[in-house]
Amino acid sequence: MDTKLMTETARAMVAPGKGLLAADESSGTCKKRFDSVKVECTEENRRAYRELLFTTPGLSDFVSGVILFDETLRQKTKDGVGFAEYLLKNGVIPGIKVDGGAHDMALHPGEKVSEGLDGLRKRLDEYFKMGARFAKWRAVITIGEDAQGNDLPSWACVEANAHALARYAALCQEASIVPIVEPEVLLDGNHSIERCEEESEKTLATLFNELTWHDVSLEHVILKASMVVSGKENARQAGVQEVAERTLKVLKRTVPAALPGVVFLSGGQTDENATAHLDAMNRMGGAPWPLTFSYSRALQAVALNTWRGSGANVGPAQSAFHHRAHMNSLAAKGQWKKELEKKAA
Ligand code: 13P
Repeated sequence: MDTKLMTETARAMVAPGKGLLAADESSGTCKKRFDSVKVECTEENRRAYRELLFTTPGLSDFVSGVILFDETLRQKTKDGVGFAEYLLKNGVIPGIKVDGGAHDMALHPGEKVSEGLDGLRKRLDEYFKMGARFAKWRAVITIGEDAQGNDLPSWACVEANAHALARYAALCQEASIVPIVEPEVLLDGNHSIERCEEESEKTLATLFNELTWHDVSLEHVILKASMVVSGKENARQAGVQEVAERTLKVLKRTVPAALPGVVFLSGGQTDENATAHLDAMNRMGGAPWPLTFSYSRALQAVALNTWRGSGANVGPAQSAFHHRAHMNSLAAKGQWKKELEKKAA
């Protein structure tokens, strides 16, 4: 276990004005995204699309690391350079998603537990040798009600997922890989923002309790958090300032100051909201950790929509992606302005 390396990796991941690109969609999720722009989800199209993202000129000005999927870590640029090697050479740290997806939880209809611990020690050793310096494990927490009218999430679901996250984090650290722990509280549903705040707080408190019991070094863990937002179908959609205030409040209540950084997922927010929320939190200040982005959809949607599978669109798609990365870099410093979006449009 190389703690010096993990310290350097974690610090670089959340360096000022930089964040992560989540490009670790499984082939199933990738198919959904590609279907929306009528691109066939072949291995070659997935490779070509990821190459477009990774070779965007100036990427490393805003993006410190990229989360890859197993298949992508094994793929190469069209010139035959492995993606991990390409990224490293260009100042971007390769990371790897290692959970095996969120599966239906036994006896808990409507809830999920993430699997993938079996054989993980061996996989992490291989990923380290392939250049991965950080990893990600995503757990999914659903707010709602079960058929009997009991509130979800259940304690069992929160606890099982926190336990798995802690075991994963311990295995990563043994392999000198910085674990990103991601307990995503979904924004799907008609719940209020107050409910989201309450369930987010319980989820994070449970997670850090488990990490402590498993002797995970908190100095070498990055939290990937969901923001505290109104349920997508709730009639009252909270504004930017309220989301920022509630999210920071929950983080301050539950996340140890020892953590090197907190990154956020976008979770289905609009591109601009994801940027505005991050910016508002950084303008508020007072957090003991750097707060930055680790977006998939909020960084990629515009690039995918511009690309649409055509080689002729690679340049414009890269420009659109570059712009979103730039906007989020400014938000990570609390320096984003809405007018900058209008200028680009
Ligand atoms: P979104 O930003 O699209 O929510 O994806 C982030 C992510 O990595 C989810 O695991």
